Amino acid sequence: MSYKEESTQTESITQPRTTVEGETTSEPMADTILESRNLNVFYGEDQALRDISFEMPEQKVTALIGPSGCGKSTFLRCINRMNDLIDSCRVEGDLLLRNKNVYDDDVDPVALRRTVGMVFQEPNPFPKSIYDNVAYGLRVQDKDDNLDEKVEQSLKRAALWDEVKDQLDSSGLDLSGGQQQRLCIARAIATDPEVILMDEPASALDPVATSQIEDLIEDLARDYTVVVVTHNMQQAARISDKTAVFLTGGELVEYDDTQKIFENPENQRVEDYITGKFG
Ligand SMILES: Nc1ncnc2c1ncn2[C@@H]1O[C@H](COP(=O)(O)OP(=O)(O)OP(=O)(O)O)[C@@H](O)[C@H]1O
Ligand SMILES: [Mg+2]
Repeated sequence: MSYKEESTQTESITQPRTTVEGETTSEPMADTILESRNLNVFYGEDQALRDISFEMPEQKVTALIGPSGCGKSTFLRCINRMNDLIDSCRVEGDLLLRNKNVYDDDVDPVALRRTVGMVFQEPNPFPKSIYDNVAYGLRVQDKDDNLDEKVEQSLKRAALWDEVKDQLDSSGLDLSGGQQQRLCIARAIATDPEVILMDEPASALDPVATSQIEDLIEDLARDYTVVVVTHNMQQAARISDKTAVFLTGGELVEYDDTQKIFENPENQRVEDYITGKFG
């Protein structure tokens, strides 16, 4: 049973997006899909995140930026409970996906990770064929009807199909770095997630591959909610709708529309960070 099916009792998780009647702005406000509420995270005695509270909009790109060690990856791993795999890690507070706390006892983390997919810094295709990489999650879930079609759709959605359609049986590891990363995105998409988490997805890639991934992220936000960690300010400014600035000590110092953060931040420390005065 998927996380989506499982949570039908908690109707807030499955409720359709509401539209605001009489909305006059050209860009109606997006609904919140993820909310962090007083989130504190510890590794043993050390606190990595302090009282993080903010809401992330549905079908938008939210960028997490900040200096090394400020807790960006830790925050990302709270959303799909990847921190569960780190013994010393303890999470307090709430991380809500459609108003349901992902840390509730009745949430199956494996099912959650299908709803909230993840793409890492280093492309990590399985040592399998391109086809089998994309089909993997579907086979695990016994959703292998129309497999060819689903694999093709996912590869198209990840902007990789045209480059690999004649070599689906060759190894995913034989692709270039940028292609491997798009393969990993196709693999994440195949199981029909709602949210895609990306931890510096382009930082290991050359400029051309980086720009392809950036275009893809913007495009993916038409169908998915994307939360992306990046060290690259220009990238955050280019691809995201919202930006959360974390600073050393694990604080969320400012969160706002990306344009506001980059053009007119409220907090002096944010301005200093963005203009390269520290970090
Ligand atoms: N597995 C772990 N065990 C113990 N401490 C950890 C672990 N992972 C992260 N930390 C600590 O938690 C803090 C936040 O780390 P995190 O990796 O989330 O930062 P980050 O913002 O992603 O940094 P970077 O930009 O370098 O990737 C750091 O002090 C780090 O040393
Ligand atoms: Mg990190």
